[in-house]
Amino acid sequence: MSVDASRLRDAVARLVELDVAPIVQAGDPVLRAGTVCYDGQLDDAELARLIDLMTRTMRAAPGVGLAAPQIGLPLAIAVVEDPGPEDDETAQVRERIAYPHRVLVNPRYTPVGDEKVAFYEGCLSVQGWAGVVARARTVHLEGLDERGNALDEEVTGWPARIVQHETDHLLGVLYLDKVETRSLATGTAAHRWASEPHPLAAARALGFELP
Ligand code: NI
Repeated sequence: MSVDASRLRDAVARLVELDVAPIVQAGDPVLRAGTVCYDGQLDDAELARLIDLMTRTMRAAPGVGLAAPQIGLPLAIAVVEDPGPEDDETAQVRERIAYPHRVLVNPRYTPVGDEKVAFYEGCLSVQGWAGVVARARTVHLEGLDERGNALDEEVTGWPARIVQHETDHLLGVLYLDKVETRSLATGTAAHRWASEPHPLAAARALGFELP
């Protein structure tokens, strides 16, 4: 897609005045349009302010990742940060370790090996819902950070899920496109199933298969 750089800069200039940005919800075309690669459309100060805004917005939500389309910008930038789970069982079962704040610029991922793991996840743009998505347990992450340094690393466990989810956003893909539809839950059911470390009981109760 093509996006006029001056319109992009205007949109960024307006957004960064906000304390936190409104998070766009599913059904908005910006979540489906895909993004343009970041190639210096913003100057260093503008980029830094945008990343600060995205980070504030992610933390306030709170969430463990936020992609630029979620604040209405069709730009291939995402922020991620996971302080880690509250309980040890979740940490162990989901391989959810703390993942420090980072910025993904023009990221892409490729699965490493065939192993898939399925867990409940949610999205700040699909408020109130959770569903089971089977994703690669390990991925090779490539792209750039906010300083233009190359990202080239293997990511595994829950951080790999976060990286896949956020990179998908930049391609116009939502977890809803990959979800096990029978697992979808909202309200108290979403809270119940998403707070169990493993979706086994949900699979039995709702009637879906796990990989
Ligand atoms: Ni999301």
